[in-house]
Amino acid sequence: MRVIPEKITEAVAYIKSRYSTPSEIGIVLGSGLGNFVSEMNVEKEIPYTEIPHFPVSTVEGHSGRLIFGQIGHKHIVVMAGRLHFYEGHAATEVAFPIRVMKLLGVHTLLLSNAAGGVNAAFAVGDLMIITDHISLATVNPLIGKNEDAFGPRFPDMSEPYAKTLIRKGKAIAGQLDIPVKEGVYFGVTGPTFETRAEYKMILALGGDAVGMSTVQEVIVAAHAGIQVFGISVITDLGIREEDNIITHEEVLEAASAAEPKLTALFKALVKAI
Ligand code: HPA
Repeated sequence: MRVIPEKITEAVAYIKSRYSTPSEIGIVLGSGLGNFVSEMNVEKEIPYTEIPHFPVSTVEGHSGRLIFGQIGHKHIVVMAGRLHFYEGHAATEVAFPIRVMKLLGVHTLLLSNAAGGVNAAFAVGDLMIITDHISLATVNPLIGKNEDAFGPRFPDMSEPYAKTLIRKGKAIAGQLDIPVKEGVYFGVTGPTFETRAEYKMILALGGDAVGMSTVQEVIVAAHAGIQVFGISVITDLGIREEDNIITHEEVLEAASAAEPKLTALFKALVKAI
């Protein structure tokens, strides 16, 4: 029998009682990247604290609301304030909002994050379209009893980032004159930034950028048949030879500086989906 877990059913029922229009596209905004919301026609905001069983975000720079509204004619739901494993949430809790989104009608998920660049061709402020990820250094959110109502026990991960969306994203970036890089996102738990040796290891293992979010959300989305498009804003570089002290403030500053490019790209992509 395909039973939706009760906590998710209750969260979804509550949200629908406050805002009943289905959402087609879900958006998760990364650290320092919350301004996208000012571009949308906001119809409803619901703080996470009001939604039954919804995990609450605690990190600085994340405010913790579901924001419903439109861009063009597309109905979207934005998670302003992401949940991170390093905050102490279980991997399944990080997954919870993605499953809620699925039941609200979401078929496409756009994700942004701040990430450290390890590819030598990257500079601070670059946007990297995520073509694939490495999640083996994190905890898989699907560990535990499989939720058959969402997807199979052993989900395929051959295309976690939809090729069609990557093509569309690149074409739109070209039209808007926004330079983009492409690469593999290496997921870690954080909250420490990496040691010099770890940044080198990540590069050697095939990562182009490293960050503390995204992969768990993408795994849950893939499990539930939601197509994904992800972008990293490169906020620091991990493989410099000189002193390489990385701070959260620096990450937020670089993310804010790159944010207008990301917002323009997401906005055009939402309209084109
Ligand atoms: N490492 C991990 N996560 C990050 C980084 C980094 O260098 N920058 C922003 N998020």
